[in-house]
Amino acid sequence: RTLDWNPSQVEKQGFRHFMLKEIHEQPEVMRACLGAYFNGQWLEKATQNQETQNQETQNQEIQNQETQNPLSPVQLRFSDDLYSDLQQVQIVACGTSWHASLVGKYLLEQVAGIPTTVHYASEFRYAPTPLMPHTLTIGVTQSGETADTLAALEMEQERRNHHQGSPQGGDYRPRLLGITNRPESTLAHVLPNVILTPAGVEVGVAATKTFMAQLMAFYALALDLAHHRHHLPSDRLLALVSALHQLPKQMEALLRDQEEPIATLAHEFVDTHDFIFLGRGINFPIALEGALKLKEISYIHAEGYPAGEMKHGPIALLDAKVPVVAIAVPGAVYEKVLSNAQEAKARDARIIGVSTIGREADMFDDLLAVPPVDELVSPLLTVIPLQLLSYYIAALRGLDVDQPRNLAKSVTVE
Ligand code: G6P
Repeated sequence: RTLDWNPSQVEKQGFRHFMLKEIHEQPEVMRACLGAYFNGQWLEKATQNQETQNQETQNQEIQNQETQNPLSPVQLRFSDDLYSDLQQVQIVACGTSWHASLVGKYLLEQVAGIPTTVHYASEFRYAPTPLMPHTLTIGVTQSGETADTLAALEMEQERRNHHQGSPQGGDYRPRLLGITNRPESTLAHVLPNVILTPAGVEVGVAATKTFMAQLMAFYALALDLAHHRHHLPSDRLLALVSALHQLPKQMEALLRDQEEPIATLAHEFVDTHDFIFLGRGINFPIALEGALKLKEISYIHAEGYPAGEMKHGPIALLDAKVPVVAIAVPGAVYEKVLSNAQEAKARDARIIGVSTIGREADMFDDLLAVPPVDELVSPLLTVIPLQLLSYYIAALRGLDVDQPRNLAKSVTVE
């Protein structure tokens, strides 16, 4: 008897493509991030928090623990002056890392209260923002080798080193922080402060699990800064750590319950030419990421838009042939997204909702259900059905999902 196998199948551990395997690795990546970034004591508190039924007891316990334990929920190791008197953050990145950075901006501003700008590295290097003091510059690159991102960081370092100071004074030193998945990369070697994302090697060209880990790096950074700057009450911090702590199980449930329905639904879109993805607030970058995944691997034209902007252009594209994916998670912009989706439905568009189980099923033509979740951590869940939908559409179209045409895993030239 001969064994019928090939080595790449073994590496794929039975999955048809690396991308699908990497999508399925995300709960483990989340666990690795929680272990690497979060303080064990806080994770323990978070578990107790989930188990505590009575709200009053729960609040009392949190207050007691906070006075006994002023530790940050996060354990990131940076040089001492990285955070001091921080007035703003600017982030440079490309592709999917740029989308993770947009979620990062939302968190840094809304959770930690720090004004933050996000730039395409390829634009920033030729048109940088005017120099401001007390600025943290973050470069986000999965590979740690993207030429534009490395060049933008180098340019920032040089211009700050050469700056003579301003008449008003202020600290213009370069404070650079990298976020990368590759400890051996150029980025990790040239920057003294780095957050390593523990996603393991990603083979599929379309980033999935490394995006998840980049998001987690931003959650950790934002919660750490919120703690240091006393920007968030400790019960809210604890609620967020608890919500993050529950995510690996929720992701497993999502993958278990939703993969098959999504694979079936994908048949409906094999011949579709255009897709619109809508989201708002913290899920706007997820709409962009959903559209990018679909473009990259299925070669279907897709646009991500902040749902409220639809009326300023994309609405003209809508008809029965253009499906609209709407990310609607209960929270600050929930009703707004639903009403934007309703407007699209009134133009005969087929509406695919990414939403919490059951609640709005009537309003959507199709529902990609995610477990109930705090809006502030929801991107970590809402992106998964979009990854699966893109994957299954591309696979049904018979395309080379792991090696899409014209794309490279990392772009090391300008
Ligand atoms: C390429 C890849 C994308 C990736 C981008 C940035 O275009 O195809 O998937 O998001 O580079 O890569 P980086 O390694 O800098 O995150």
